[in-house]
Amino acid sequence: MNIGFIGFGNMGQGLARGLLRTGAVSATQIGASARDRAKLQRNTEPYGFRAFDSSADTVRFADVVIVAVKPYQVEAVVAPLRELLASKIVVSVAAGVTFDDYERMLAPGTAHLSTVPNTPVAVGEGIIACERRHSLSATQWQAFEELFSHVGLVLPVDTPLLGLAGTICGCGPAFVAMFIEALADAGVKHGLARADAYRMVSQMIVGTGRLQLETGEHPGVMKDAVCSPGGTTIVGVAELERKGFRGAVIDAIDAIQRKK
Ligand SMILES: NC(=O)c1ccc[n+]([C@@H]2O[C@H](COP(=O)([O-])OP(=O)(O)OC[C@H]3O[C@@H](n4cnc5c(N)ncnc54)[C@H](OP(=O)(O)O)[C@@H]3O)[C@@H](O)[C@H]2O)c1
Repeated sequence: MNIGFIGFGNMGQGLARGLLRTGAVSATQIGASARDRAKLQRNTEPYGFRAFDSSADTVRFADVVIVAVKPYQVEAVVAPLRELLASKIVVSVAAGVTFDDYERMLAPGTAHLSTVPNTPVAVGEGIIACERRHSLSATQWQAFEELFSHVGLVLPVDTPLLGLAGTICGCGPAFVAMFIEALADAGVKHGLARADAYRMVSQMIVGTGRLQLETGEHPGVMKDAVCSPGGTTIVGVAELERKGFRGAVIDAIDAIQRKK
């Protein structure tokens, strides 16, 4: 199965690298086009991806076409490809461009699906929030899910919640990166080498997330499990509560939702 990227910026490259490193496809099964040919060459050549001169050539090459331009560019990019896209599986990663928008832009009967992936797809640990409403056949959906499961958790959501899922999963990495930095700073303050502190904290976060996913345990239960009576962890938990840790995280999402 060939994968063609129309637009090869941060998200396009992240997905392509994730698909390659997880063995979902080989490098020659990935092709891309973008506006700046020299930049495209620099971003494809080191990995062995194919670089195309036009979006039309990318679509001709691909079985699955990933629309990875900025949301405001989607219409102008897709319109001239309408007929060519009719026989492909079109996967959009453009935030806020949903099923109804693509129904208007694409030829009737085109198989298309709107998603919002997050950047950890590059290392196979992403989340691909997908609009539950799509026009893929059962077999096409299965093929999509099989492919994208290599780079993350494929999670269908109802249309009104797609934006929120994108916010939680897309902005979340910035919050987590701030937490990594803060906890590592504390480690450095108390004597850890900075490089060790980053590695330690990041792996702790990967492990905690993995544990929650595999056990399905309530996060409160996970917290309680490491808080022994009269122990040290509960002292830190109480301090975080006093500083409004959880409220601050919820307020951050509220603020983003207000801005949208
Ligand atoms: N980055 C994220 O964390 C994230 C998360 C979720 C969803 N997304 C979605 O992913 C999409 C891409 O975001 P991004 O961060 O990857 O943006 P980006 O880094 O700016 O990349 C955009 C790409 O689109 C190309 N492009 C622009 N106009 C084009 C045209 N007419 N024909 C072909 N290619 C064209 C650009 O080429 P040139 O560079 O040559 O101009 C560039 O390769 C957006 O819709 C965004 O909502 C991103």
